[in-house]
Parts: sequence; C-alpha cells; structure tokens
Amino acid sequence: MTALEGFKLAPGFLDRGAQEQLVEDLRALLKEAPFYTPVMPRSGKPFSVRMTNCGTLGWVSDRAGYRYQPTHPETGRPWPAIPQALLDAWAELGAYSRPPEACLVNFYASGTRMGLHQDRDEEDLAAPVVSLSLGDEAVFRIGGHSRKDPTRSLRLKSGDALVLGGEARLAFHGVDRIIAGTSTLLPKGGRINLTLRRVTKGE
Ligand code: SIN
Ligand code: FE2
Repeated sequence: MTALEGFKLAPGFLDRGAQEQLVEDLRALLKEAPFYTPVMPRSGKPFSVRMTNCGTLGWVSDRAGYRYQPTHPETGRPWPAIPQALLDAWAELGAYSRPPEACLVNFYASGTRMGLHQDRDEEDLAAPVVSLSLGDEAVFRIGGHSRKDPTRSLRLKSGDALVLGGEARLAFHGVDRIIAGTSTLLPKGGRINLTLRRVTKGE
C-alpha cells in the first residue's frame, strides 16, 4: 500500500538530548495538568491511555462526547502553555501559517492501545497534525479515509516525528501495542505521544 499524500515520517527528529529536555518540560507541565483517564462518549468505558493537554485548548472525551475545551476536566484550571521545543517542531514540520492551539499528551503504559480513529474534531482540517513519540516503541497502524481501507503498520520510536497533512490528515490511525523495554528514556517505561493540532480557523 502506498502512503497517502501528506504522510511524512521523520525518524529520529529529536536526538537523545532533545528528548531528555522534553521529558523535563513535561514533568513541570504534568504538575500543573496531571494525566487523567478519559472515558468514551455514551458508554463511559475508560480509555486505556491516560491523557492531558497543553495549549489554549485541549482535547477531552467524556460521556457527553469528544470536544476541545480551555480547561483541564479534573482541576478546572487552564491548560499550561505549549513548550517552546514543541512550537519549534510545529514550525519545522507543520509548515502551517498559524500556530498550534492544542497539544494532546497521551501516556501509554505497557499493555495499552488506541483503536483505529480519525482526528476530526478540529474545525481547521487544512492544518496538519504533528506527532512526536517518546519512550517505548509503538506499533502504529495507518489506513485510508474509510475504516475498511487497507492499513499498514510501522514502528514509532523515541524521537520520531510523524506528520499527517494533506490527504493523510483524515487517515484512520491507531496504536496496536507498545513494545516494553525498547527505550531507556522513561525510567518506568511506557510511551508518551504528543500531537500538536490547530483547532480553530481564527487567528
Ligand atoms: C493519537 O492518534 O492521538 C495518538 C497517536 C499515537 O499515539 O501515535
Ligand atoms: Fe489520532
């Protein structure tokens, strides 16, 4: 299967030093906006992945649905600012006219996964989604615009960046599994994925 136009993998985009610095930034951010466990709309079934956000908006899921909101659902406080290193990654990889508004931070413990989905809660679908991976490797799956389209899988390693822009912006994607013991970056193991998104069409 050939990749959709606008799919771009940048292996080793962050070197080890940049990854360690980003983990430091995240430690400070998590004190302000701790990981929480979102639940699925309607059913209330918990996600296996834990989440938080930074930026002026954050993606949340609860019984009422999926949406972007300016505050953490448990603390009620505004999300912390997006670290400069992530803004730089957006500028370099996203090459988009407006800055990102949201950065979803997912924590995958060993044994967790994320089902196949499209990122389509954003108003501005012309902007790419820029993803950075830290820690243990993930088996990432990507397909086409229909859930039934053929998929292919690739490993995302610590420091890798992925851009879903153009046709790939609405590609179905998910994480089948995390391969424990493949990185020494996070002392307790697991994987952190950061996805930068432009949400609104405004300035
Ligand atoms: C996501 O689709 O929100 C996360 C993808 C990933 O963890 O690589
Ligand atoms: Fe996604």
